[in-house]
Amino acid sequence: MTVHVDWKGVTAVRTAARISNLPPYLFAEIDKKVAVRRAQGIDVISLGIGDPDTPTPGRIVDRMSEAIRDPENHRYPSYVGAPRYRQACARWMDQRFGVEVDPDEEVVALIGSKEGIAHIFLAFVDPGRHTLIPGAGYPVYTTGGILAGGKYHYMPMTEENGFLADFDSVPADIAANARMMFLSYPNNPTSATATEEYFDRAIEFAGEHDLLIVHDNAYSEIGYDGYVAPSFLERPGAKDVAIELFSMSKAYNMTGWRVAFAAGNALAIEALSRVKTNIDSGVFTAVQDAAIEAMLGPQDSIAELITVYSRRRDMVCETLSEIGLEAHRPRATIYVWAKVPEGYTSASFATHVLEKADVIVSPGNAYGPSGEGYIRLTLSTPDDRLAEALERIKQSL
Ligand SMILES: Cc1ncc(COP(=O)(O)O)c(C=O)c1O
Repeated sequence: MTVHVDWKGVTAVRTAARISNLPPYLFAEIDKKVAVRRAQGIDVISLGIGDPDTPTPGRIVDRMSEAIRDPENHRYPSYVGAPRYRQACARWMDQRFGVEVDPDEEVVALIGSKEGIAHIFLAFVDPGRHTLIPGAGYPVYTTGGILAGGKYHYMPMTEENGFLADFDSVPADIAANARMMFLSYPNNPTSATATEEYFDRAIEFAGEHDLLIVHDNAYSEIGYDGYVAPSFLERPGAKDVAIELFSMSKAYNMTGWRVAFAAGNALAIEALSRVKTNIDSGVFTAVQDAAIEAMLGPQDSIAELITVYSRRRDMVCETLSEIGLEAHRPRATIYVWAKVPEGYTSASFATHVLEKADVIVSPGNAYGPSGEGYIRLTLSTPDDRLAEALERIKQSL
């Protein structure tokens, strides 16, 4: 790294402390090794990132190519989402879950749910305040809090408790200092699903401690064997304490389009909108039009997607069990969460698989302390490549 100095010979630019406070990125080492291997012409297969390999459904692409030609869509979008987009979100919530939300007061468009996760901290977490986050969860729950100057507390998730983040174990002083709690079911990375009782208890807990629940429902549409994920907002009293995030990314293979929404508690939606108004200028309106088509058009593509993923899920679970790796057979999400063999840690097994099989898997501890002892494999890899990756892992053991 080059250090730039000014004319007096002193360093001219300095990063903020919050940058150095970001935890080391666990994938960085793996990324370096992958780069070296690929430069040597080695065929590395990634079961790491969860990014759908099949295209966005044609009807959505068609709507986009129409919408992009409308000059009205070329101007700055609405900060909070076009009224027609927010109305479509509310209609989808009603059709899909029977949940009523007011499109004007209780919905805001997001540039992907990641953007909403990162920005909600600025609305709710003052420096020094805690956020309660799942022991294994989407990394931005941690880093978003750090960037806002906040503290975080991991809620343990164990196999015995069905990977339901244990908020009851949060020490009283931390619960009192907390302003927000993240939950996410169906869960990334564990693929766990939650019960109604768990959601109800979470609502009670939030009421007892005056904190906002952010329920991240990024995988709401990806359920197997007839499992249909609920909305957190279906539960009585949820809107008093919670907002929920929904994304087009995984449901409609739209990760590259960057479009999602938050719905629920009006005060929280207003606070998040106020932050966003000062930071970004909304989602490209043509993309919102495409997302309206995604939500309100025919939904057959979801069933087709589920057929593909469940076939891959079966393939992965069967092979892992043949080679003696204990894996949870997921009934939702695009991930298989597997225990590492005896004698390995998450990181050492991920490294073994990369070095001996040229396959990338995610080490569980990259998602938080409850992930230690596990790896995550994604199903968003074409069948033949997935089969090849599994064969290579088998040979490496
Ligand atoms: C649990 C969870 N939340 C949020 C996101 C971000 O999704 P989006 O593409 O909507 O930003 C992801 C992406 O993988 C995720 O796994």
